[in-house]
Amino acid sequence: MKVLVTGGAGYIGSHTCKYLARNGNEVTVYDNLSTGHKELVRWGDFVHGDIRDESRLRAVIHRVNPDGIIHFASSISVGESVVDPGSYYENNVLGSLRIMQCLRDEGVRPLVVSGSAAVYGLPDNCPVCETEKPMPINPYGRTKLIMEWMLKDFAKAHALPWVALRYFNAAGADPEGETGEWHEPETHLIPNVLRSVAEDGNTLKVFGTDYKTKDGTCIRDYVHVCDLASAHALALEYLLNKNKSTSINLGNGKGISVKEIISTVEKVTGKRVKFEVCDRRPGDPKELVADSKKARQLLNWEPRYESIESIIKTAWDWNNKLKNKAMK
Ligand code: UFG
Repeated sequence: MKVLVTGGAGYIGSHTCKYLARNGNEVTVYDNLSTGHKELVRWGDFVHGDIRDESRLRAVIHRVNPDGIIHFASSISVGESVVDPGSYYENNVLGSLRIMQCLRDEGVRPLVVSGSAAVYGLPDNCPVCETEKPMPINPYGRTKLIMEWMLKDFAKAHALPWVALRYFNAAGADPEGETGEWHEPETHLIPNVLRSVAEDGNTLKVFGTDYKTKDGTCIRDYVHVCDLASAHALALEYLLNKNKSTSINLGNGKGISVKEIISTVEKVTGKRVKFEVCDRRPGDPKELVADSKKARQLLNWEPRYESIESIIKTAWDWNNKLKNKAMK
């Protein structure tokens, strides 16, 4: 299969490219490198380009003539989306619209997109099913929901087949150390905890210990990035075989608190985590855990990394590699 991957130089994108290439697919990465890294484009051809650049994108789709597209390219920080909503609507809404318009004009084919648990906002039920009413509480979540609405309209009007994969908390790294999480600045919990043990003078900020949870800290569902990668390939196959568009949660279904992440990092690394308790971070839901039955049933998805230790171990190995600047 020929697959065009927007945002293939990023965290989840690069792991998905590796998975696709290892499974006999021809990959072309389309990325503007605004947050991604050229060093992580190791599996397939690379085209430098922005998803909002319609003529460039159209030319690439025309030339590559992919059997399917996986669309990762987007802005991903909740906090930044509150401060600078315009760039989120530009990148995530307008950029996604451009892809749909190019497919409409160049010939529709399956489109798998990065959705997010952020569409649920503060869900009434946990674990959260796809049937939960989406009520995003920040611009980032709203852009991801608008993208899904646009997909529904394009499916109806132009028969564009799509799957939106709503990730919970992506974590971990390629066990072979060829790619991993590399955000600048880093805002996510696990890499920040690892930095606090790896770097002198780096203290982790714990955002809130007064939530109504088992230990007062927020609960999340961490899913290994390689398991997300396989889900994208399965979603593409599903669309090619069944042609039925839908949104699907991806998580492990286990709720893990911030304090539990800290103690697991201490166990995996054998080092003490230095942390200070800070105020709550605005917009953080107290608990987000996925019901991923739909992914298992529809896609036959079987996550391979179910323990948080195994996820953190791969992130720790990658962190050491990045710290040694092996990638730079
Ligand atoms: N946290 C800290 N200290 C840090 C970083 C995070 O205490 O330095 C806490 C957060 O407050 C939160 C938990 O750790 O309670 C997880 O935070 P992350 O930033 O790692 O992840 P989020 O749950 O905020 O974000 C994830 C995805 C987003 C998505 C969001 C939906 O990364 O893309 O879930 O809520 F929008």
